[in-house]
Amino acid sequence: MAEKKIILTGDRPTGALHLGHYVGSLKKRVELQNTGLYDQFVMIADLQALTDNADNPEKIRQNILEVMLDYLAVGLTPDKTTFLVQSHIPALYELPMYYSNLVTMSRLERNPTIKNEIKMRGFERNLPVGFMTYPISQAADITAFKAELVPVGEDQLPMLEQAREIVSSFNRIYKCDILKEPKAVLPDNETCNRLVGTDGNTKMSKSLGNCIYLKDDEKTLKQKIMSMYTDPTHINVNDPGHTENNPVFIYLEAFCNNQHFEKYFPDYKNLDEMKEHYERGGLGDMKCKKFLNSVMQELLAPIRTRREEFAKDKGELLNILKKGTQRAIEISNQTVSQVRNAIGINYFNDESFKEKFVL
Ligand code: TRP
Repeated sequence: MAEKKIILTGDRPTGALHLGHYVGSLKKRVELQNTGLYDQFVMIADLQALTDNADNPEKIRQNILEVMLDYLAVGLTPDKTTFLVQSHIPALYELPMYYSNLVTMSRLERNPTIKNEIKMRGFERNLPVGFMTYPISQAADITAFKAELVPVGEDQLPMLEQAREIVSSFNRIYKCDILKEPKAVLPDNETCNRLVGTDGNTKMSKSLGNCIYLKDDEKTLKQKIMSMYTDPTHINVNDPGHTENNPVFIYLEAFCNNQHFEKYFPDYKNLDEMKEHYERGGLGDMKCKKFLNSVMQELLAPIRTRREEFAKDKGELLNILKKGTQRAIEISNQTVSQVRNAIGINYFNDESFKEKFVL
């Protein structure tokens, strides 16, 4: 049998995961896991979280098991996916040291995601060095496992590009083909690529306070949906409405299907019919939100229940993470030893080292 292709992806443990994470990547991971065709690693990126939270490690500690719970709640399982915590993998400290010599400052400064994050966090020149170089560390995360597929949202594309550049420089300079070039696996459509927040803001993000969390209870979820931003020009029911840039319709686009209409909103056969009525005028926001609430409750109820189930045994959660981390250490150590060989710094295990030395 051909070897299974390797998948690696991860999340920063800075908070519980939300719907943006779900449509952006978690859903894909569960699908990929269930094909049985891949060896999938899912990493809690606590080192990367520290790059802009060095003064608040407690926040990261708090969120390790929180993120683990979200993983298990959406249907990732330890018999099919290896879970690991970044800070416990020696390879992820060593590889960045070698890779950082292959990347220039100007290349790091051109990374659009980094540029954007620097602006959002107001770092200017007081930027932690670790933050500036996290794309190099992320290249190590991916290559340490020789991952070829990386399920992520599109904001991570610049990180993948940087990783591919490092791989190709490394293989060229050290005349080897040890490292593999990774490819992103993006969500199926544009809506899911960057899910808007409940306030209509371009991105669902914890810092903007516009998130629906996977762990939100039934009441909270309903309340968030009922107070969602819609079309500000749709004042009276009979006014024509806009479905574009209207988060209620964007979410319906991302989450509802025709069976949902049959079950919860039989006035329409599908989303196109519903949209058409809204745009013509005569369909009120309340009705739309109630429908969206039914769709979302159906999706999130089983996730919530599984989460509560797993939360009962924190020892087991920690065990799953520990076991996965041990496997990850072994696999990534093999890459490190190949990398050292390729560079030629394995002085104590290299017969030719002594022989080639002439006084
Ligand atoms: N940068 C990713 C995020 O912010 C997290 C991450 C760290 C990651 N290392 C990774 C994602 C490796 C994919 C592959 O969500």
